[in-house]
Amino acid sequence: MKKFFRSIYWKISATFLALLLILSAVYIYIIVFSAEMYFQEANQRLSVPIAQRLLKHYQPVVNHQLDSSRMDEIYTIQKLFNPSIEVYVLDTTGKVLSHCPSNTKICRMSVGIQPIKTFVMEKFPSFLMGDDPKYEMTEKTFSAAEIKDGTKIIGYLYVILGSEEFDNNFKMLAGSYILRIGTRTMTITLFAAAIIGLIALLFITKNLRTIVRTVKEFQNGNRSARIQLSSTGELNELATSFNEMADTIVSNLDELKTMDSLRRELVANVSHDLRTPLATIHGYIETLLIKAETLENHDREKYLKTILSSTDRLRTLVEELFELSKLEAQQIKPNPEPFSISELVQDIGQKYLIIAEKKEIRFQCILPHDLPLVIADIALVDRVIQNLSDNAIKFTPQGGVVTIEVRRNLTNVEVTVADTGEGIFEKDIPHIFDRYNKGSQKNIFQSDGAGLGLAIVKKILEVHHLSISVSSKKNEGTAFSFKLPVYPV
Ligand SMILES: Nc1ncnc2c1ncn2[C@@H]1O[C@H](COP(=O)(O)OP(=O)(O)OP(=O)(O)O)[C@@H](O)[C@H]1O
Ligand SMILES: [Mg+2]
Repeated sequence: MKKFFRSIYWKISATFLALLLILSAVYIYIIVFSAEMYFQEANQRLSVPIAQRLLKHYQPVVNHQLDSSRMDEIYTIQKLFNPSIEVYVLDTTGKVLSHCPSNTKICRMSVGIQPIKTFVMEKFPSFLMGDDPKYEMTEKTFSAAEIKDGTKIIGYLYVILGSEEFDNNFKMLAGSYILRIGTRTMTITLFAAAIIGLIALLFITKNLRTIVRTVKEFQNGNRSARIQLSSTGELNELATSFNEMADTIVSNLDELKTMDSLRRELVANVSHDLRTPLATIHGYIETLLIKAETLENHDREKYLKTILSSTDRLRTLVEELFELSKLEAQQIKPNPEPFSISELVQDIGQKYLIIAEKKEIRFQCILPHDLPLVIADIALVDRVIQNLSDNAIKFTPQGGVVTIEVRRNLTNVEVTVADTGEGIFEKDIPHIFDRYNKGSQKNIFQSDGAGLGLAIVKKILEVHHLSISVSSKKNEGTAFSFKLPVYPV
């Protein structure tokens, strides 16, 4: 029950019913008021000449003086004409000199003279109201005529049309007739309007209730709750927006969850990676210290070389992690500039020629003569090609071939780093760009790499809005390629 009174349906219905009641009350008031005005105006129009007619019989001027002694005569006459009138003799300022019926009590000894003057001046007077001497504040319709002594106006005969008797009769009629019919009609109309309105509201708020229910369901943890509306319009738009918002929230939550598990994995992997070379360094230094006296020179040298390579590995790892974190946190913004890709590849080629030679691998660069300038961040592109070349040499056995080839297309220049090495399992290809994912056949302890090289490559190309493609066959070789935009001259 409490829930019902808090529902939107109840609130709208209650407001609707209250409005309906107020409207009905106003409507009844207007009907009664306008009926009264209608009767009064009609009465006045019919009774315009009453004062004039009475005056003819009354003849109130005797010896140039207003004579009130014949008021009772007036009363008898007026009773014949119209029982609903009250008659007053006024002086020219509106002061009441006498009245009849003389036994009635009057409250005002003087009335406003202006409406009376207007009335007698107009041939067909408009609807006018004048002060009723019987009441302090009431105005009534009236008829009036000038009382003259020769040509001089010495007073007015003032006839109030809606006497107390008339008022009482009217009120009684209004109460019994107008009010009764009005109220009956109003009740029927009200009842019909209320029923139609409440049924219509029930349908209109049905969709609203569905929306509220679904939103609550979603709030309580049902992530698949979506609003299904059959209608069109604003509510449908609201439902669509909510559904889209819910989809976004759910996908963001999933993303956050994945990111969180990736972060945990990263922290675990990083600590493991750092611990391995650190443990090696620690172990060898300890051995060096313990066996300082007894150690042969070539052993000492061997230990020191191991320590050196471990510190190198540690440094590379820390640098790569740092770089990747900065790229991911969008702290590294590419600074694109036009540069010659053939010069860059030649420089890299010179460095890798020596490294490849040591491993007895053939290293070659294929560069056409007419290569245009490309536009990108030269330092970051350098890093991409070096990381790819590192991998190509690392995963190619003795006697293999590593090639950096640059080809010109219409709007871009394609750089390919290919090798004849061990290749990658097809199922591993989608994962090699993930941090630490080093292919299923290896784990981080056997490889001297941290598994961050390709993640960095992908991120660098991403910040340039570029992508990388890979093709590989197990035991035949691998090729990575990406396209750089040509600098428009
Ligand atoms: N040219 C390639 N031939 C065969 N496998 C490759 C090649 N390049 C990458 N891979 C595979 O992809 C994995 C990820 O490469 P990535 O460069 O990210 O890591 P890494 O070289 O092992 O370590 P790091 O680059 O951090 O020193 C490698 O471990 C390897 O399994
Ligand atoms: Mg690598």
